[in-house]
Amino acid sequence: MKCRIFLAILFILTAPCYGKVTILHLNGVFLAADSLSMYYTTDNIDCLKQCGKNSSCIGVQMMTDMGMCSLLTMVRDVRNAMECDYYIKKERTVNIPGRSLTPLQQILQNSVYATQEACPEGWTDGGNCTSVVSQSACENYATFLGATYDGTKCVMPRMNVTYSCPNTKLTLKRFSNGYFCYAMILRGQLNGTIATMNDFCYNETGCYLASIHSEAENEFIASMRDSSLSDNGVIIGLESINGQVENATDFQWLDRTVLDYANFDDTSVPTKGVYAFPYPVMSTSNKWQTYTDQASFDLSTFAKSMICRCDASATYS
Ligand SMILES: *[C@@H]1O[C@H](CO)[C@@H](O)[C@H](O)[C@H]1NC(C)=O
Ligand SMILES: *[C@@H]1O[C@H](CO)[C@@H](O)[C@H](O)[C@H]1NC(C)=O
Ligand SMILES: *[C@@H]1O[C@H](CO)[C@@H](O)[C@H](O)[C@H]1NC(C)=O
Ligand SMILES: *[C@@H]1O[C@H](CO)[C@@H](O)[C@H](O)[C@H]1NC(C)=O
Ligand SMILES: *[C@@H]1O[C@H](CO)[C@@H](O)[C@H](O)[C@H]1NC(C)=O
Ligand SMILES: *[C@@H]1O[C@H](CO)[C@@H](O)[C@H](O)[C@H]1NC(C)=O
Repeated sequence: MKCRIFLAILFILTAPCYGKVTILHLNGVFLAADSLSMYYTTDNIDCLKQCGKNSSCIGVQMMTDMGMCSLLTMVRDVRNAMECDYYIKKERTVNIPGRSLTPLQQILQNSVYATQEACPEGWTDGGNCTSVVSQSACENYATFLGATYDGTKCVMPRMNVTYSCPNTKLTLKRFSNGYFCYAMILRGQLNGTIATMNDFCYNETGCYLASIHSEAENEFIASMRDSSLSDNGVIIGLESINGQVENATDFQWLDRTVLDYANFDDTSVPTKGVYAFPYPVMSTSNKWQTYTDQASFDLSTFAKSMICRCDASATYS
């Protein structure tokens, strides 16, 4: 084995903004997990980036000798071993009372409960948590997770979990991708770039401009808007990657979550000389508007609000 370094190395994949994915190099550790997909590459960083871009990916196995990258999901165990191929995304700490864990076991628990639900991601939430996998895969789970095979499926205890927001300005709401806290605030006379607006969100609420991941979330945000104000556009946490403003491929979320839902108003390619907004705005039709062909458009009278969002905190009991 060619593991030379037995220290954890941090890879921080960060774009020049707020969101980032931290990936831990698990030197001297074997990771039991399913493979989401594999492809040929000798580029470790590309392998990590591909994982960073996919919310289902929890880690990677970078098989340098074979020139292959495997994106991993459904992690089951971590064990000390003569291995240096494995990397895992750093997730929020999940404390489950009554469990005394080693630092490595804690990393595993954080990944298994990365979605901060009562059951691990991908499991069915019933009276217990269940997953249809083979007996051997079920027995592969680290003992402390409490998985048992019942003859047809793998069963894990359902956790008691409650969700809360950091302060009372925020409203708790659940969507298919998790629990979040929202606050709609007024922009007032503030001018500037999207970074200015994002700072303002943080200063006022402790959260950042929201990314939007489903029609349900889009509708919920629209419903928080003060409808007594006319032309009340809402600044959202979207930014143009290179100044182009044509379609979804030109944009990314400030928080670096995956752009997996799009609701752009801009259906036709704009003509030259359009006014590209410094920050995209959810218009009163609830579509995302990023430019106008009226050069004299006064965005400051239109973008009256902004939507701030953070992850809810989960408490396991
Ligand atoms: C993540 O990767 C899997 C397998 O390659 C794919 O099916 C899924 O659509 C990807 N998800 C996203 C959000 O890209
Ligand atoms: C959950 O699993 C345990 C152990 O397998 C079992 O005793 C219990 O009846 C199950 N509970 C429910 C609600 O299915
Ligand atoms: C959840 O709470 C109930 C009632 O307080 C308790 O009986 C049960 O053991 C708890 N479940 C877990 C997994 O701790
Ligand atoms: C922001 O811009 C608007 C319109 O251009 C202007 O009326 C307002 O005074 C500006 N706000 C500040 C704080 O300069
Ligand atoms: C946010 O707060 C910081 C520190 O108080 C201040 O320097 C900054 O100007 C504020 N930004 C906005 C946009 O309110
Ligand atoms: C988005 O626009 C680019 C040109 O800027 C074009 O190459 C690409 O095909 C467009 N994508 C979609 C999905 O329309």
